[in-house]
Amino acid sequence: MKKWMRLVCAALVSAGLLMTLTGCGKSTTPTTPSKKIVVGTEASFRPFEWRNEKGDIIGFDIELAKEVGAEIGAEVEIQNIPFDGLIAALNNKNIDMVSSAMTITEKRKESVDFSKPYFEATQAIVLKKGSSPKNLSDLKGKNVGIQNGTTGQDVVETLMGNRDPHIKRFESVLDALNTLRIDGLDAVVADKPVVQNYLLSNPESQLVLLDDNSFVKEEYGFAFRKGDTELQTQVNEALDKLEKKGKIKELAAKYLGEK
Ligand code: ARG
Repeated sequence: MKKWMRLVCAALVSAGLLMTLTGCGKSTTPTTPSKKIVVGTEASFRPFEWRNEKGDIIGFDIELAKEVGAEIGAEVEIQNIPFDGLIAALNNKNIDMVSSAMTITEKRKESVDFSKPYFEATQAIVLKKGSSPKNLSDLKGKNVGIQNGTTGQDVVETLMGNRDPHIKRFESVLDALNTLRIDGLDAVVADKPVVQNYLLSNPESQLVLLDDNSFVKEEYGFAFRKGDTELQTQVNEALDKLEKKGKIKELAAKYLGEK
């Protein structure tokens, strides 16, 4: 090789090396999201979050969290955590956000910050077909199942006092409903859309839904660590955009049959 050619080659090689080292020459728009949001959920709350046959966690809250992630340019990782452990998981920094049909309450606001509301629901009572209670106060003195740490628990504890042994606490609403089916309980109090979904998908269950007009409107929001206003603001902006695009309505139609 002629000397000048060797020089040109060496120059090209080092320029190439320099480009890879400094990242020059690569496109400036990242192809993979640089941020990651770790999202906690309790995944036995269909249609908001549950596991499909393949074991993947899916549902309204999961798809909404992923849409929010896409708006922000962040990857979303889902972690399944018991409902009454979600707030601790946020505060321990094991997760960055809760997406778990979590109702925005004054009590929770003492330990977490919430996004703007993205869904409305109420509680509902589930009974065995033909049983006598006509309203919430008729549940006094009956064995009532609730999911640990939920607003359903608050409602029942307000009615019966939190030390009443008739209150049966379960890890999941599914466990409570399945226990009601085998006569292990007199009633279950839980979020109405979840109960409706269960009754529709288990027509053989012999369970019925009972409304009570004392149940107040609840609003679901994503929860963040207190003071994590950066993520909270980004998520709220993303929710606004998704709302404008009609995406939230579309997800409600897909998962809840709502128009
Ligand atoms: N909305 C109720 C609450 O905030 C129940 C939520 C339960 N969510 C769940 N994924 N298990 O207390």
